[in-house]
Amino acid sequence: MAHKKNGEKESKKWVLMATARSPTNIAVIKYWGKRDETLILPVNGSISVTLEPSHLSATTTVAVSPSFDRDRMWLNGKEILLSGGRYQSCLREIRRRAEDVKDEERGICIKREDWEGLHVHIASFNNFPTAAGLASSAAGFACLGNVTLFMCSFCPCKLMNVKEETTELSSIARQGSGSACRSLYGGFVKWAMGNKEDGSDSIAVQLANETHWEDLVILIAVVCSRQKETSSTTGMRESVETSSLLQYRSQVVVPRRLIQMEEAIQKRDFPSFAKLTCADSNQFHSVCLDTSPPIFYMNDTSHRHVQLCFLIYCIYVHGEIRLIIGLVERWNQFEGTPQVAYTYDAGPNAVLIAPNRKVARLLLQRMLFYFPPPSEKELDSYVLGDTSILQEAG
Ligand code: ADP
Ligand code: DP6
Ligand code: CO
Repeated sequence: MAHKKNGEKESKKWVLMATARSPTNIAVIKYWGKRDETLILPVNGSISVTLEPSHLSATTTVAVSPSFDRDRMWLNGKEILLSGGRYQSCLREIRRRAEDVKDEERGICIKREDWEGLHVHIASFNNFPTAAGLASSAAGFACLGNVTLFMCSFCPCKLMNVKEETTELSSIARQGSGSACRSLYGGFVKWAMGNKEDGSDSIAVQLANETHWEDLVILIAVVCSRQKETSSTTGMRESVETSSLLQYRSQVVVPRRLIQMEEAIQKRDFPSFAKLTCADSNQFHSVCLDTSPPIFYMNDTSHRHVQLCFLIYCIYVHGEIRLIIGLVERWNQFEGTPQVAYTYDAGPNAVLIAPNRKVARLLLQRMLFYFPPPSEKELDSYVLGDTSILQEAG
């Protein structure tokens, strides 16, 4: 246990805290389905793009103290149960890797073996809708892994992208939420499915850093910020059990697409990138429909409230999801070559990718034309946190 100069009573008083922020990532070749539920090993590889941490991210503070009698966690200000296997696996993995920690200034000394008996309090906030298909679990578990491993090793290098460290972190974050391992890097990231039983080769690797394709602009249209009815974890479990399309997708389609997507990214070939991105999103949602009972993540009746984040700008518009797909498809067909890509995760919110600012501006104009902003009253109630307008819309 921690040792303080003034005896045991004093030692109960210390609290060690650390805070980190991690961005979300949006998959352009989707992960959907696990071959191992405990270790979180996927049925296929996936590729994503990591967003700017200042745009969509999770911020997590972890505190450890001998006066805490159990692990507790607050998500967006509300206490949640940590009994779920994913939090326990994540914390167990971290404790297993804990090292001796010394804070000489405050007289704190924690031995490697003491971590098992110490409890944590975790507080995390997402600056975007949670469990609404914008990969909050990715930002959340990348952040939890990052901050906790940092704290129980007290070594600043753990926060940097030192190769060995990120491999370790990959495995910790992945065991919280599969998509989280991709949030440990910026830019374009591949999560290799790996084939070892212990999961040691199922890790994220950076394909290209954030400066590689700087012209790309990503717009996020928050159609509905309500929590989805079927979590990604449950949804993909049901797809694995019942969808034959998923078997074909994971064994035949995705391996081919991963190669094509890597090539499109390396060459900054937007038309190929856009075609693959849209096709993969559509196939993923087809797998959801092919699941029994079917899962509808893109449900257009509940999708009237659209909040559009354009880099640092935030605009509120109304719209329906199929209309957004229709708008992009018609535009791409009219031009004869893809101008804009769309992709939807397990939720109704649209992620639109434009090749440059000029096209992004046009896209924004069109979005605002087709989905004009809500009235002042609606906006006020939204800003004041009254979500009844969202419920009504559904
Ligand atoms: P999403 O599409 O937002 O990733 P998921 O169904 O995959 O939705 O995961 C949502 C779950 O992820 C939440 O119910 C919660 O358990 C977990 N989660 C979300 N944000 C955080 C966070 N910041 N820290 C820890 N866990 C989080
Ligand atoms: C549609 O990583 O949230 O966003 O591993 O069960 O936590 P768990 O699932 P999660 O699934 C993400 C699915 C997806 C596609 C993707 O991000 O690749
Ligand atoms: Co998720």
